[in-house]
Amino acid sequence: MIKRPKIAIVGAGGNVGAAVAQWAVLKELGDLVLIDIKAQAAEGRALDLTQCGPWEGFNNTSFVATDKPEAMAGADVVVMTAGVPRKPGQSREELIGINSGIVRDICHNVKTHAPDAILIVVSNPLDAMVFVAKQVTGFPRERVIGSAGVLDSARFRTYLALAAGVSVEDVQAIVLGAHTDKDMVPIVSHAMIGNVPVSKFLSAEKINEVVENTKKGGATLTALIGTSAWLAPGAGTALMVEAIVRNQQRVLPCSVELRGEFGVKDAFVGVPVKLGAKGAEAVYEIELSASEKEAFAKSVAANTELMGIAKTFLK
Ligand SMILES: NC(=O)c1ccc[n+]([C@@H]2O[C@H](COP(=O)([O-])OP(=O)(O)OC[C@H]3O[C@@H](n4cnc5c(N)ncnc54)[C@H](O)[C@@H]3O)[C@@H](O)[C@H]2O)c1
Repeated sequence: MIKRPKIAIVGAGGNVGAAVAQWAVLKELGDLVLIDIKAQAAEGRALDLTQCGPWEGFNNTSFVATDKPEAMAGADVVVMTAGVPRKPGQSREELIGINSGIVRDICHNVKTHAPDAILIVVSNPLDAMVFVAKQVTGFPRERVIGSAGVLDSARFRTYLALAAGVSVEDVQAIVLGAHTDKDMVPIVSHAMIGNVPVSKFLSAEKINEVVENTKKGGATLTALIGTSAWLAPGAGTALMVEAIVRNQQRVLPCSVELRGEFGVKDAFVGVPVKLGAKGAEAVYEIELSASEKEAFAKSVAANTELMGIAKTFLK
């Protein structure tokens, strides 16, 4: 029998995990295992999703829903969305104390039960949690990848499209650096609309407004919904899973350990990454403007500080 990819989502009883599952099922990416410390929440999400089958035609997809970490055994991809989401007014940094312990414990399980998996971390504060995952699993950097740049870039592209009055499909733009409101770096110098620089469409003031909207994109949604967003985070993460299980060689912004790229070593930040069957197969450097270089360096420094705090939870 031809093996279907096995995708385990830890934290699947929650909003982001359930959204990843939904997009993964719609894209028919493989067999899903929904794991959550609250078994009933995972079961509920699986049942809800299963009942979409009659209309969406994915009745051959098998769901496992459980609180047992061993259910991830043999997974090709493990997506970790477990943790506490942001509350209105709370920064991602404030989440570090709670989520470090959760991520650490789950990573021990990943190492034990799915030692060959590619691990995609979604839990916040993102870059510090990717660091924790890398430390605990000891996996090579190719197999420990943070999902955030896909979301932040989607927000950047959306705000650019809205401001310029063009189709978002024709907007090429990325956000690099830290996944924090303060320190993410929307890259204006390379932003294009249909291969035409954005400066041809928008004034410097308007571009600045777009950049600010992008940076507070998460906080805006948290204030509106009362918890952090899940549809776009789920869509972006499912896109990463798809790139891996279908070996698509997509180039997407992801958080990985830097090894000299951008002149940085041992820090975890968002950079352009080639995603394929082996995970983060390559990291690409791009030329940044002087102000972007400065913002990127600030972002690395902020993440290094968070990594220092996260380190205290590794013992
Ligand atoms: N990186 C991104 O782009 C991005 C975007 C949105 C949210 N997030 C983060 O994703 C995480 C999840 O957000 P959410 O809105 O889905 O939260 P949520 O509260 O809806 O879901 C989290 C789930 O994790 C489960 N959980 C907690 N500890 C667990 C453990 N030890 N093992 C298994 N499951 C466990 C909870 O029971 C819950 O069901 C948060 O940390 C949030 O900040 C990241």
